Amino acid sequence: MARRKIIAGNWKMNMTPSQAVALCDTLKDLVATDEADVVYCVPAIDIVPVVEAVKGTNVEVGAENLYFEDKGAYTGEISAEMLVDAGVKYVIIGHSERRDYFKECDCLLNKKVKQAFKAGLIPILCCGESLEQREMGVTMDWIRLQIKSDLTGVTADQVKEMVIAYEPIWAIGTGKTATTGQAQEVCKGIRDCIAEIYDTDTAEAVRIQYGGSVNAGNAAELFAQPDIDGGLVGGASLKADFGKIVNYK
Ligand code: PGA
Repeated sequence: MARRKIIAGNWKMNMTPSQAVALCDTLKDLVATDEADVVYCVPAIDIVPVVEAVKGTNVEVGAENLYFEDKGAYTGEISAEMLVDAGVKYVIIGHSERRDYFKECDCLLNKKVKQAFKAGLIPILCCGESLEQREMGVTMDWIRLQIKSDLTGVTADQVKEMVIAYEPIWAIGTGKTATTGQAQEVCKGIRDCIAEIYDTDTAEAVRIQYGGSVNAGNAAELFAQPDIDGGLVGGASLKADFGKIVNYK
């Protein structure tokens, strides 16, 4: 069965609650489609107003992070249960900005992935290499390590439901997109890795996105690749262009 495309915006630390609602209104008709899943991953404070603003549309809401404990004395953190109760369906886990700036390691990310599944959230698990790693020729070794560590103890049925986002760090927010060939090669490598850990059914089911300077001009070619099932879009998700990315065909 063909995998359904999933195109997600990653708003990062942008948009106040009122700006978020205005953006949802601007994008509403532009992102309408029956052909792909459309998700806005938004800052925690924007979740409640955005869930309200996208009611009755094809857009689902995602969070950008969660904490792995159920509840308790973790000042400043947000639980999976809180996200679910607010109407969130997806959650980004392990974005390179979280890995780099907030020192989130694979062992923590593995706990977050499991916690997301426990609560019924769909993880969008990010992985990707630095420019240095690419130049050293260890891209796939590095990504396989990330995938294997982050998915430790996760079942095949869970993996079938989840999303993996391949985001080369050197392509994020730089305007420097991976070539279609590079993006496809790594996305296929991730699928092969899933087949090795689990089985071919699981590998065929899991959706793998490309992320890193996706824009209205390059989306169609990237998303046409056999192992690229959509995109995780940063900068371009905050403008009307996101409608063109969603309706890339
Ligand atoms: P970008 O960000 O599209 O602005 O490069 C992608 C991401 O970080 O998810």
